[in-house]
Amino acid sequence: QAQRTLLGIESSCDDTAAAVVRVADGEAEVLSSIVDSQTDLHAEFGGVVPELAARAHAEKLDLCVEAALAEAGLGLSDLDGIAVTAGPGLIGGVISGVMCARGIAAGAGLPLIPVNHLAGHALTPRLTDDLTFPYLMLLVSGGHCQFLLVSGPQEFKRLGGTIDDAPGEAFDKTARLLGLPQPGGPVVEGRAKSGDPKRFRFPRPLLDRPGCDMSFSGLKTAVLRARDALVADQGGLYEIDRDDLCAGFQAAVADVLAEKSRRALAEYMALNPAQPMIAVAGGVAANTAIREALQSVAAEAGAGFTAPPLRLCTDNAAMIAWAGIELLNAQVPPTDDFSARPRWPL
Ligand code: KG4
Ligand code: ZN
Repeated sequence: QAQRTLLGIESSCDDTAAAVVRVADGEAEVLSSIVDSQTDLHAEFGGVVPELAARAHAEKLDLCVEAALAEAGLGLSDLDGIAVTAGPGLIGGVISGVMCARGIAAGAGLPLIPVNHLAGHALTPRLTDDLTFPYLMLLVSGGHCQFLLVSGPQEFKRLGGTIDDAPGEAFDKTARLLGLPQPGGPVVEGRAKSGDPKRFRFPRPLLDRPGCDMSFSGLKTAVLRARDALVADQGGLYEIDRDDLCAGFQAAVADVLAEKSRRALAEYMALNPAQPMIAVAGGVAANTAIREALQSVAAEAGAGFTAPPLRLCTDNAAMIAWAGIELLNAQVPPTDDFSARPRWPL
């Protein structure tokens, strides 16, 4: 099929999103991508409240879909199908998205394609770059952190990952410890720009151990201790302290991700010497310092590097529509027979 146009729907965490992606003559184009973030809704609670998230998704999904179609200048009859995140994620939100997609698909007689949210992230570099299978993927977000050997739209092999927190979670918790707003990632990154990364030397866990597994929970404890020591010492935190703590924290995360990527890349290249390539995706891939660290790891190893633009790194529905197109292209049949899954490992 020369042309395919899919609507994507995403609601697995705290962003309600809808997007239209079209592939024509091998060229993919994001015709629209609407992301309605619930950041303000959860702000006073210091984290995502599942019940509030589910209700907000249910309220906003129809509007997001309408906006995505309007921005693309298309109606339902122009679509070839609907791809929807069926998991993993907060179950209430996933169910809202699946119900919305089911309703529209049934009403308009459109095929439905259930998509794994992680596969959506992991396939995004193929939407934005000329990237063929296989490639090594570092998927780093608020809930996930893993190295994947990606060989097809449904073929993922895990080479290692975090044994506790995901880096995004560590960014968010660090922001909270320092009295900074959520989501912590962009805020900590902004603070780190004016900070001294060498003032605080935070641990780089598991670097002394072989393999590609990582650990980030000790890092936030280290930030907590450094904060408490400063408070005990000087009666509080100065802005410069916050900047330096953020810089030290981000440097530690970047170091761990870089070193483990070096190992994962070596492991991957031993298996796939003809296609040396590392891609990064997920919300934390929006971090410039981390992107640059990974880019130099790739350059040192003589491998290519690609990362989707920032707006396609954090949660969005274009990646879900794109994953749907990938599945259809791979002859995976659409189906109405699936349920929302809170857990769904790749
Ligand atoms: O992929 P995503 O939107 O949602 C999940 O599936 O988790 O990732 C969100 C996570 C949050 O923890 C957020 O703080 C983090 O990605 N994040 C960042 C940056 N932008 C978002 N972390 C570090 N630096 C950033 N610039
Ligand atoms: Zn995500």
